[in-house]
Amino acid sequence: MMKFHVLTLFPEVFESLNHSMIKRGIEAGHIAINPVNIRDFAQNNRRQTDGYPYGGGAGMIISPEPIYLAYKSLDLSHSRLVYLTPTGRVFNQDMAAELAQEADLILLCGHYEGVDQRIIDEIVTDEISLGDFVLTGGEIAAIAVIDAVARLVPGVLKPESLAQESFSQGILEYPQYTRPPEFLGRKVPEVLLSGHHGEIEKWRREQALEATRRKRPDLLR
Ligand SMILES: C[S@@+](CC[C@H](N)C(=O)[O-])C[C@H]1O[C@@H](n2cnc3c(N)ncnc32)[C@H](O)[C@@H]1O
Repeated sequence: MMKFHVLTLFPEVFESLNHSMIKRGIEAGHIAINPVNIRDFAQNNRRQTDGYPYGGGAGMIISPEPIYLAYKSLDLSHSRLVYLTPTGRVFNQDMAAELAQEADLILLCGHYEGVDQRIIDEIVTDEISLGDFVLTGGEIAAIAVIDAVARLVPGVLKPESLAQESFSQGILEYPQYTRPPEFLGRKVPEVLLSGHHGEIEKWRREQALEATRRKRPDLLR
């Protein structure tokens, strides 16, 4: 069982994970998702969680205190804590596989202009970015990380579903086909209908390498 604890100002966003494979993984007890509302830990009557940046500049910064209290409420001081940020290491399948080894993983979602640096220095162990672009908040990035990690937790998917996926062997996946055998004049490659497993494997390997050469040559370097 792996538990994802999310420190966020928008816990309701995580209801969107309760579908399909992830929902089944939760129901079967392989994973659990625990959103924690940072606002519940605000120490003022107006439940304010942000402040103006020292030194001036646009936007608001999430204050360190409510994040720290939300974190402390989990009582998981030895667990990894990922801050989703465009300044982090760009997420990939190897990182997903590494994080899937954890029993508890805490994710911190920023909003507005981000979070006070002191909370990063105090509690964050990993900084992860979804890519070189800026989102409104860390929630969508956290959902992407949870989804990618959760499907690697034993029991969530069948092992054979993961074996030949893109990136699992360092290259992209081969093209896939299903019924009908002909669609708008485009036929399913003959070899896939042959029933010859050796030939099918060989064709798939060649196609996977060709797709990688064409779309992501950087993976072959
Ligand atoms: C508007 S962004 C803040 C951007 C920040 N001022 C900067 O320039 O780096 C608000 C929050 O969204 C999240 N976020 C934005 N882009 C992201 C990305 N590419 N990957 C992960 N999280 C991101 C972070 O949690 C961030 O604190």
